[in-house]
Amino acid sequence: MSAATPCTANCTSSTSRSPTPTEPPQSTADGDEDFASPPAPRSRFAWCITGSGHYLEESLALAARLPQLDLFLSSAAEEVLGIYHWTLPVLRERFPPGLRIVRDKTASAVPVGRLYTDVYHTVVIAPATSNTVAKCAYGISDTLPTNMLAQAGKLGIPGLVFACDTEPVVVTKAPHDWVTLRPRRIELDNVERLRQLDFCQVVASPAELETALAERLHALSLEWTSPAS
Ligand SMILES: Cc1cc2nc3c(=O)[nH]c(=O)nc-3n(C[C@H](O)[C@H](O)[C@H](O)COP(=O)(O)O)c2cc1C
Repeated sequence: MSAATPCTANCTSSTSRSPTPTEPPQSTADGDEDFASPPAPRSRFAWCITGSGHYLEESLALAARLPQLDLFLSSAAEEVLGIYHWTLPVLRERFPPGLRIVRDKTASAVPVGRLYTDVYHTVVIAPATSNTVAKCAYGISDTLPTNMLAQAGKLGIPGLVFACDTEPVVVTKAPHDWVTLRPRRIELDNVERLRQLDFCQVVASPAELETALAERLHALSLEWTSPAS
């Protein structure tokens, strides 16, 4: 999809209605949540989640402290979130009111059209799987998160990617146990390649992610909605 594609927020839903910030989100036919009314320009974080169990909890904990945020899920993210007991109702319960959850239900990443309406000031992918890191590093965009980052870059919207496979040895929480993984050279190289991308900051730990988000909030004259616990 190019920036010239005549797609607006309405192309993500046929049920857009008019607005107040406190109004609950409107459900679209495919289960996505659209804005009840157009939000202020560059007022929201677009936070993409991929199918990574590694650092999922830590990423969600930071996301839940940000003001004005929408979640964009890859298909794998939706599955993996469920495996870790983060179903969509649980997400809605744990995030501040006003959250929109956008699911990956189209081959052409139709919801990316929301970026063209100038609603989002930042696109985050956290946690980012090795798969998503590889695709982003090579300019492939065939999922909602990879399309969001690609289009954000083309629009000059800052992107922030939390690449999880960045160390020679990674200890990760599988659904039932802790597992030790050794990312291959290709995964580590892809992270380095991703660092070369325009409009894309790469972080490699929850602490780095928190620092990068704090800097972004400061640049936008915004604040965390709640302190770290
Ligand atoms: C329970 C579970 C946990 C997973 N955790 C990871 C992970 O930590 N890192 C990773 O790169 N892939 C992980 N995967 C595999 C990805 O979900 C898979 O590669 C998927 O195709 C990624 O798609 P996406 O990048 O579009 O979200 C996990 C899969 C499952 C079922």
